[in-house]
Amino acid sequence: MRITSLYRHLFAFLFSISTIQLSAQEDFLPNDYLGKEFYAGRRDAFRSAMPDSSVAVIFAYPTRTFSNDVEYIYHANPDMYYFSGYKEPHALLIIFKEAQTDTSGRSYKEILFVQKKNPQAEQWTGKRLGTEGAREKLGIPEVYNGADFKNFPIDFSRFKKVLHDRLPADIPNSNDKADLYDLVDQFRQKLNLTDKSVQRNPDTRLYLELTGKLRRIKTTEELGLLRKAVEISCQAHNEVMKTIHPGMSELEIQGLQEYVHKKQGAEGVGYGSIVGSGENGCVLHYMENTKTKIGGSLLLMDVGAEYHGYTADVTRTVPADGKYSAEERAIYQLVYDAQEAAFKTLKNGAKFADATIAARETIADGLVKLGILKDKKDIWTYYPHGLGHHIGLDVHDRGAMETLLKDMVITIEPGIYIPSNSDCDKKWWGIAVRIEDDVLITENGYELLSRFSPRKIEDVEKLISQKSALDNFKLEPLQSEKKKGF
Ligand code: GLY
Ligand code: MN
Ligand code: MN
Repeated sequence: MRITSLYRHLFAFLFSISTIQLSAQEDFLPNDYLGKEFYAGRRDAFRSAMPDSSVAVIFAYPTRTFSNDVEYIYHANPDMYYFSGYKEPHALLIIFKEAQTDTSGRSYKEILFVQKKNPQAEQWTGKRLGTEGAREKLGIPEVYNGADFKNFPIDFSRFKKVLHDRLPADIPNSNDKADLYDLVDQFRQKLNLTDKSVQRNPDTRLYLELTGKLRRIKTTEELGLLRKAVEISCQAHNEVMKTIHPGMSELEIQGLQEYVHKKQGAEGVGYGSIVGSGENGCVLHYMENTKTKIGGSLLLMDVGAEYHGYTADVTRTVPADGKYSAEERAIYQLVYDAQEAAFKTLKNGAKFADATIAARETIADGLVKLGILKDKKDIWTYYPHGLGHHIGLDVHDRGAMETLLKDMVITIEPGIYIPSNSDCDKKWWGIAVRIEDDVLITENGYELLSRFSPRKIEDVEKLISQKSALDNFKLEPLQSEKKKGF
């Protein structure tokens, strides 16, 4: 081999190593984020639904204090995320129905105001996209810093409608004159909005209606992420079922559920995890999860993973000692039958009210038969919530629950809750059962997205009898507790 050729090969070799390293590094990030084409498509769909001569204004969610100078983990406003992909706070997105023209004759149909890049702040709280990053990554040509909004030449009085959600309440920050507080304040001034006019704004009703109509029908890309969130949630429920025993604590079970989510790449949960043993299951949104031993009673777990912004909402109610007692079995079967009755009604064009009635009648008749209810009309005592809701970027996703349409994703979640001292035989006291599944509405029926986790009594008991990889996860007792002689 000639020397020049040797160099050439060496060079090519080194280059290929560095490319491999680069692509390997890139491979360490998820490769299934929604792309800028998705967000552009959502903006265009919204624009087609907006009335003539209208503009929509979407603010980021505020940040919130967790403790002293520590903030809660930031969660983007789902509308901001849905229409732009921007996930940072202190931002504002404006979408115009008709293309606008600036003084130099350039045409634009949306503007994004973002938080300014700031190396000092970014060292503490992470990278910001800034104007250039947002232009490149999100594919929105018109991007400015928040500080530019104040004097930006937009005359909102030119539009017949200015569509926006209820305005977010932020806390003024004297160090930052372009934070969310200032953006909202400047918007109010530009529109002469008073507190009253903001509360009773018909344009806000229209904004919620139009965005609800869009967001309730899931696109193929969204369905991909939702399916993943739901399957991960089912896997977490299943792993807990396999390892559950009466000596475990509610917190421990929450931790195992969320560990499986994270192991599978879900960034967080779509709502505070609900893990309630026995009577705690009667508190519909119980999130303390402080009971140190779940004991042998039923354990209600309403836990859903959030994957790239999309959340599942799945509940399983299982016997911690492996077998449903006769009373637990009777109540569980009733909730199961109610869910099945509701499922049968589901399809494109069906009324959600029919599913609600089917489930409610099944539970009411059953409770009367068991002697728990004297009069069917008192069903609300033991079943005090609705049958379901949309899921998506919000766990209670926007959109009316009226006529069901293909590609909606909704929950079906009947439940029966019998707290102590209820007006029935005390053998029923402390039993709480909810079964919650996520379904995709199809042309002729539905697809049970949460089919990966069992619901039938015998299937749940069978899964509980199996072994889990988590069974062998044991920790040493804490030194601090040993010393105290615990
Ligand atoms: N996890 C809240 C709900 O089921 O609606
Ligand atoms: Mn739900
Ligand atoms: Mn739920």
